[in-house]
Amino acid sequence: MKSTGGKLYMKGLILSGGKGTRLRPITFTQAKQLVPVANKPVLFYGIEALKEAGIKDIGIVVGETKEEIKKAAGDGRRWGVRLTYIEQEAPLGLAHAVLVAEDFLGKTPFVMYLGDNILKSGIHSLVEKFQIYRPNALILLTEVPHPERFGVAELENGRVVRLVEKPRQPRSNLALVGVYMFDHHIFEAARAIKPSWRNELEITDAIQYLVDHGYQVQPHIVSGWWKDTGKIEDVLEANRLILESIEGRIEGEVDVESRLNGQVVLEKGARVIRSVVRGPAIIGEKTEIIDSYIGPFTSIQANCRVIKTEIEHSIMLEGSQIIDIGGRIDESLIGREVRIYQGQAKPRVYRFVLGEKSEVGLK
Ligand code: TTP
Repeated sequence: MKSTGGKLYMKGLILSGGKGTRLRPITFTQAKQLVPVANKPVLFYGIEALKEAGIKDIGIVVGETKEEIKKAAGDGRRWGVRLTYIEQEAPLGLAHAVLVAEDFLGKTPFVMYLGDNILKSGIHSLVEKFQIYRPNALILLTEVPHPERFGVAELENGRVVRLVEKPRQPRSNLALVGVYMFDHHIFEAARAIKPSWRNELEITDAIQYLVDHGYQVQPHIVSGWWKDTGKIEDVLEANRLILESIEGRIEGEVDVESRLNGQVVLEKGARVIRSVVRGPAIIGEKTEIIDSYIGPFTSIQANCRVIKTEIEHSIMLEGSQIIDIGGRIDESLIGREVRIYQGQAKPRVYRFVLGEKSEVGLK
């Protein structure tokens, strides 16, 4: 074991650029890192995880959605951290994002955190391990049932020996989680590698370079759950996992004909009238729930209206309305200011105004 010496000063780097193609149509108008999970942007979970691990100087790599991200996270004062925005001209890969941040990071070791990831147990133990052993890189791994869908690490005697991106025949079930720790040698590695077939500078290639050139790359296996919210079903799953541990809090209004069961958060100005809300669920400010059923694992943002409708295991973004739907809505992600309603005019037909990449599943 290396000596612990004094405590290492570390910075954070959150990657919040990218294209977010797998989350369309939501990401046509919104950064994927700002999609809310339990009514909080995914990005904020990352900022909080770094803060809890004692990292207060954080760079955020941003792309075309930079203004939106800056507006949402600001200068970081509300978390007691300092945020510095670093522009990446195009999403040319995770290792490219590291290079873009070289001036900000300098020689300081850092935690790199993918801005669309959530880890249940935070990153405290990872940062501590880096402090003790001081390797050149520490990568977070977790056992997964389908390693062929991930970047996979092969270990020998507790060391990382090989990294393979989406292997056809995986030789390990340890997938790379979206959090890494590096010292400044990662810049040498990112400069040395070539773009992959998808024209990105891959972080797996950069880490492989470190391994191949005798640098120390240590694994750290995470125990709690980890979620990459890159796809719609993953956003819903992350929402479920976060809601599982929320504590109820009622600041809105509930009439005598309504019933709230389990852990329910009802924000200020929200109203529940003649309805049943079965938690865990969260209902945002000024949202109205009337003659409806809100089932478990549902997050409804502010200024929504749900009338004569049943909905569960879903996320509704700000300003949306669902009115008088016959049947239950399940496993849905409803964007901002969407309207779904039962028309009264004859003929009783389905009428859609759907943007590119929208998806409607009828019973
Ligand atoms: P990915 O999910 O790998 O990429 P993406 O955001 O482009 O999404 P999609 O595949 O659906 O098009 O990115 C992981 C995180 O890293 C995410 O928060 C975006 C960020 N990122 C950057 O900041 N710069 C980059 O060059 C890339 C590729 C990703």
